[in-house]
Amino acid sequence: MGNFFPRWVNWIPLKVIFCLSVVGMLVVPAVWYTATAKYTRVGYEPQQPIPFDHSIHAGQLGMDCRYCHSFVENSKHSNIPVAEQCWNCHKAIRTESDKLVKLREAVDKNYEGYTGERLKWVQIHETPDYAYFDHSVHVNRGVSCMECHGKVNEMKVVRQEKSLSMGFCLDCHRNPEKHLRPMDEITNLDWKPEDVDRHEFFKYLAEKTGKSAKDFAEGYKVKGKELPLTKEDIGKGLKEAWNVNPPESCTACHR
Ligand code: HEC
Ligand code: HEC
Ligand code: HEC
Ligand code: HEC
Ligand code: HEC
Repeated sequence: MGNFFPRWVNWIPLKVIFCLSVVGMLVVPAVWYTATAKYTRVGYEPQQPIPFDHSIHAGQLGMDCRYCHSFVENSKHSNIPVAEQCWNCHKAIRTESDKLVKLREAVDKNYEGYTGERLKWVQIHETPDYAYFDHSVHVNRGVSCMECHGKVNEMKVVRQEKSLSMGFCLDCHRNPEKHLRPMDEITNLDWKPEDVDRHEFFKYLAEKTGKSAKDFAEGYKVKGKELPLTKEDIGKGLKEAWNVNPPESCTACHR
């Protein structure tokens, strides 16, 4: 039997493979680059001048985030504390520790290595310049540090936990009720919705909205039963009480 197909047909699979692999060589790195931590920065955990441990200071010692990140409620930026803030304690605590050499170089005038140079912490979380972000707006609207930074109070080394991508911002802006908590619990990263007293909460909502506490209480019953409030129940109430309405228009974040 003669050859049914012309000879060049035999080459088709090879050509296809060749083309696919060229495309592959271009696509794979692009996908790899955008999908990996390096692009989204998730997991980013740079070497710092001092091995500062949040799980000791904010965890075991129970220090409030705002003791060090003192501008977070009042300004666009959340600051990193100056060395003097650390020295308040460390002039008396573990002063001789190897881990505190850089701190003493920065602030301890009696230390032989004193230079007075400020500590150079490496910034971990960063939004590009073309996107506008303001801490105070969020922190004063019942959005906890945890929503965007994870459980920093349990981290020995701070790492980026959330992508902070546009999609991440918008997920919350579209459904803020899933992410709100009472104002005095913003820096309490161990807060649980069960901690909220149901009747106090309804009283608060009533005061803020001018509705009656009884109406709220009825609205949160399921088949006449008072089930424990969920995070979303609380968020829903606070969204209404504070009239929370995060922007979704491009110009809100790209100005
Ligand atoms: C004793 C001071 C202190 C306290 C208290 C403290 N921090 Fe920090 N924080 C620092 C220092 C110093 C750094 C920079 C070094 C590092 O990244 O660990 C930092 C870094 C961070 C970063 C990363 C900043 C960046 O570069 O992107 C986040 C997020 C953060 N802290 C959140 C918190 C939260 C949330 C709390 C409360 C649960 C808290 N911190 C309590 C001192 C403190
Ligand atoms: C409120 C007091 C207080 C402040 C403020 C404070 N620390 Fe501490 N720090 C402590 C205590 C207490 C320990 C635990 C000491 C121990 O384990 O014996 C500690 C432990 C440490 C250690 C581990 C020391 C070792 O030898 O294991 C480092 C490093 C450190 N702190 C750095 C810092 C830095 C940097 C800052 C400022 C951003 C800071 N601390 C602010 C109280 C403080
Ligand atoms: C709605 C999300 C969100 C919340 C809530 C939030 N942060 Fe941030 N945080 C960010 C983003 C985004 C950045 C990067 C900011 C930039 O590049 O200017 C950042 C950066 C930081 C930094 C690095 C310093 C800086 O501003 O450049 C620190 C420290 C910090 N946050 C601490 C906190 C603390 C403490 C809280 C709670 C009191 C908190 N953040 C709440 C999103 C958030
Ligand atoms: C966990 C929830 C949450 C996340 C995540 C979040 N936001 Fe918001 N955002 C809010 C809430 C709540 C408000 C306040 C809305 C109001 O006051 O009605 C707000 C308000 C804003 C505003 C308007 C106020 C202003 O500053 O002009 C901007 C802009 C904004 N967010 C940008 C961002 C960006 C950029 C990100 C991501 C890096 C982000 N947000 C992530 C909840 C969130
Ligand atoms: C809630 C805040 C917010 C809103 C609203 C928003 N953006 Fe963004 N956008 C961001 C942030 C934050 C980034 C940076 C993401 C990152 O770090 O990768 C971004 C990045 C981008 C980028 C760069 C490419 C990318 O995806 O990373 C483009 C293009 C963009 N936005 C267009 C838009 C357009 C068009 C709209 C309106 C439909 C819009 N954005 C609305 C916050 C927002």
